[in-house]
Amino acid sequence: MSSRGNWGTRLGFVLAAAGSAVGLGNLWKFPYITYDNNGGTFVLVYLICISIVGLPIMIAEIMIGRSTQKNAVGAFKALFPQQWIWQIIGWLGIATGFIILSYYSVVAGWTLEYTLRSLTGYFSGLGPDVIASSFGEFLADPVRQVGWHAVFMFITAAVVFGGISKGIERWTKVLVPLLFAILLVLMVYSLTTGAGKKAIAFIFNFSSPISTHGMLEALGHAFFTLSLGMGAMLTYGSYLRKDTDIGKAAFTVTVLDTLVALVACLVMYPIIFANPDLQITESIGIIFTTLPYIFQSIPLGNIFSPLFFALMAFAALTSTISLLEVVVSYTVDELKWQRHRSVIVVSFVIFLFGIPSALSYGAVDWISSITLLSKGDAALNWFDSFDYLASNWLLPIGGMLIAFFAGWIMKVELKKAEILQGEGFKLINYGVWNFLIKFVSPVAVLLVLLYKIGIIKL
Ligand code: PHE
Repeated sequence: MSSRGNWGTRLGFVLAAAGSAVGLGNLWKFPYITYDNNGGTFVLVYLICISIVGLPIMIAEIMIGRSTQKNAVGAFKALFPQQWIWQIIGWLGIATGFIILSYYSVVAGWTLEYTLRSLTGYFSGLGPDVIASSFGEFLADPVRQVGWHAVFMFITAAVVFGGISKGIERWTKVLVPLLFAILLVLMVYSLTTGAGKKAIAFIFNFSSPISTHGMLEALGHAFFTLSLGMGAMLTYGSYLRKDTDIGKAAFTVTVLDTLVALVACLVMYPIIFANPDLQITESIGIIFTTLPYIFQSIPLGNIFSPLFFALMAFAALTSTISLLEVVVSYTVDELKWQRHRSVIVVSFVIFLFGIPSALSYGAVDWISSITLLSKGDAALNWFDSFDYLASNWLLPIGGMLIAFFAGWIMKVELKKAEILQGEGFKLINYGVWNFLIKFVSPVAVLLVLLYKIGIIKL
C-alpha cells in the first residue's frame, strides 16, 4: 500500500478532491448554462440533483476506492474477482478520463493565453467586436492552439510526476486556497461595482421557466462538476487513510464545489448585467469575449482581468491533475509500470488525442469539418463530440453503474465498515445514504437516459 502513496493529511485529501471538483465546470460551464436556462429554477433543480444524486455517488466512489486501495479497474476486480463484468465500470471510467482530459486541456490552455493577454495589456482600447474577433483568430491559430494544449498537459504531468503527497497534495494545498481567495476578492469587487442586486435576483428567482432539456442538463452537470462517474473520486479515495470520515469529507467537497459555482455567477453576472448594451450572443463566449472587454473598461480591470484568468487556470489544473491520475494509477497498479514512465507515456498519448480538439475551431479546415456525433440537428465537431459523449452519456452511465454497484452488489458489512469508520457517520446517516444510493440515484439517472434515448416521452 505504501508504495502506491497516501495523502499526508485529511485536509490534503479534501483539498485535492475539492480541486478536482472545482474547475472549468464551475467557472465556465455553470455560469453559461445557468444563463441559458434563465437562472433561478435551473439552479434549484441543480441543487436537488447535487444533494440526492451527486453526494450519495461521491460517498460511494470514495468508499469503493478506500476499501480496496486500488485504481478504478483494480477496485472492482478486488471486490469481485470472479465477476469480470464489474470491471467494465472501471474501464469505462478510464476511457472517460482519457477523453475528458484530451479536450479539457485545450480550454485550459486558452486560459493561459488569456492570462498573458490580460497581463500585457493586449485588450486595452479594443472594442467588443475586435475582442470577439480576436478570440476567433486565436482559435484559428494552429500553433498557439496546439502549443497551449501542450503546455497545459506538460504542467499537469509535472505535478502528477511527483506522486500523491509530494506532487498532487503539495500543489493542490497551495492552489485551492489561493483560488478561493481570488474568487472572493473578485466577488466582492463585482458585487460592489456591478449590478449585484440584479444578479442575485436572477440566480435565486425560483419561479423562472425551465425546460425539460434544462432539467436534464442540470443532472448531467451534477456529474461533471463533482468529477463523478469516471473513478476520479474513487482513485483519490484509494489514497485515503482509514481514519477519515467519508461522509464528512464528501459533504465538504460537495458544498465547496456548489459554493464556487454560485460565486462564479456572482462574479460574472453583476459585471455583465451592468452593461446592458452588451449583446451576449453566444453564451459560451462570455468568458473569452465579453469579460475581457468589460474588464478593460472598468476601474482596476487591468488587475482583476489577469487575476480572473489565472484563477481559471489554477482551477483547471487541479482538475486535469485528477483526470490524469485516474489513468496513471491504472497503469501503475495493473500494468506495473513505474509512475514516472506512466506519467510520460499516458500524458503524451492524451496530448496526441487532444490535438484534433485543439484544431476543431477553424485552425485546420479539414479537421474542423470532421463531424463525429450530432446533438439534435446540429452536427458536432471533434471537440464537441467528445465533450457531448463524455458529459452527457459516459459520466451519467458510469455514475449509474457505480450507484447500482454500491447499492446492490457490494457487501453490506464492507460498506458499513468503510462508511462508519472515522468519527462515525454522524453528518450523513448510513440508512439515508443507503436508501438514496439504492433507489434514488440509479433510478433518477436511468430515467434521464431512457428519456434521452427516446423510450420515455414527457
Ligand atoms: N469537475 C471538473 C470541473 O468541474 C471536471 C472533471 C470531471 C474533473 C471529471 C475530473 C473528472 O471542471
